[in-house]
Amino acid sequence: VHIRTVTTFSAQEQIVKSFDRALSEPRKKSLRSSQLQGFVFGLFQGSMYGAYTLTLWFGSYLVEHDKAKLGDVFKIFLILVLSSFSVGQLAGLAPDTSMAATAIPAVQDIIKRRPLINNDRTKVRKVDKSKPFNIEFKMVTFAYPSRPEVTVLRDFCLKVKGGSTVALVGPSGSGKSTVIWLTQRFYDPDQGKVMLSGVDLREIDVKWLRRQMALVGQEPTLFAGSIRENIAFGDPNASWTEIEEAAKEAYIHKFISGLPQGYETQVGESGVQLSGGQKQRIAIARAILKRSRVLLLDEASSALDLESEKHVQEALKNVGKEATTIIVAHRLSTIREAGKIAVMRDGEVVEYGSHDTLMASTQNGLYASLVRAETEANAFS
Ligand SMILES: Nc1ncnc2c1ncn2[C@@H]1O[C@H](COP(=O)(O)OP(=O)(O)OP(=O)(O)O)[C@@H](O)[C@H]1O
Ligand SMILES: [Mg+2]
Repeated sequence: VHIRTVTTFSAQEQIVKSFDRALSEPRKKSLRSSQLQGFVFGLFQGSMYGAYTLTLWFGSYLVEHDKAKLGDVFKIFLILVLSSFSVGQLAGLAPDTSMAATAIPAVQDIIKRRPLINNDRTKVRKVDKSKPFNIEFKMVTFAYPSRPEVTVLRDFCLKVKGGSTVALVGPSGSGKSTVIWLTQRFYDPDQGKVMLSGVDLREIDVKWLRRQMALVGQEPTLFAGSIRENIAFGDPNASWTEIEEAAKEAYIHKFISGLPQGYETQVGESGVQLSGGQKQRIAIARAILKRSRVLLLDEASSALDLESEKHVQEALKNVGKEATTIIVAHRLSTIREAGKIAVMRDGEVVEYGSHDTLMASTQNGLYASLVRAETEANAFS
């Protein structure tokens, strides 16, 4: 993919130059260190063979003047060879001991690392599992740990009733995907709380929580492996028929069956390249198979063609039938049927309601203007 970007801009030479520049410093360094190594090695070997020569010469002198027997000389020589060999091997390890001094702290850092999302088992609370889960954001303020100075969500409030669907719309960068991440507790809010059926996410077992949720992300990732493995990722014990059912419901079964190797086709980094829509439908099949009670969808912002978009939409309807759903929509036409629409701007909900009420009550509102912009764009295409 990067190669294509580079060639598109005819920037090969530029990239090669910057690569050369990046390498010149390490090159100088390694040149110097190899010279040193060569010198030390030469000295060492030279002195070793020098010692052999000396011993043999002295041995021969002793034998010649009948001061020692040939056997004794040979014994001494062998001892010398073997012991110098062992010492030499030890010397070879010397650089490693100096490397250990730098490596050990790094390893210890990793071992000592504690996850930010701590799973405190002492105060785990159970969630009422008999009813669909409500999701509620209560005055959530949040900034990413890597950029604490930028507040992404400010006093963000949102209620999703169990089994219903809420759509999030808004300009790029308004914090829609962030809401999805917080719902899965990949981050904890700085202020306020996120609740599942009235229980703070921080008091819920994280693994259990994530088992309840399925995510179809903005850029769905497929793992290196077959399509079947990628779908079954949602439920490793799934049977063949279940996998096929899920693929059918996600409108991807026909496409998969059309491939020469069918469900065993290798995808992911080293495998067949799939289109964005196809990847997304495989991710949807994965979500369907998981039968989660909370469904999180981050619609791809890249425009799918109308045909595959329709397929994705149909597929989504199948997943969201019983689950509590939060959907991030870039195409407003796709969410007219969502129960409620929350319009976000700069990390806040600025408008909230169904499509019709939003269109009627806030003629000059953000939602109405977004819809107008989209209608105009569609008119041109
Ligand atoms: N991992 C991160 N670390 C730091 N800042 C981030 C991170 N992810 C997102 N942001 C910032 O948070 C803000 C909200 O991003 P977010 O991804 O939630 O927007 P979005 O509404 O999903 O946009 P889009 O419609 O383009 O997907 C942006 O200003 C972005 O730069
Ligand atoms: Mg996003």
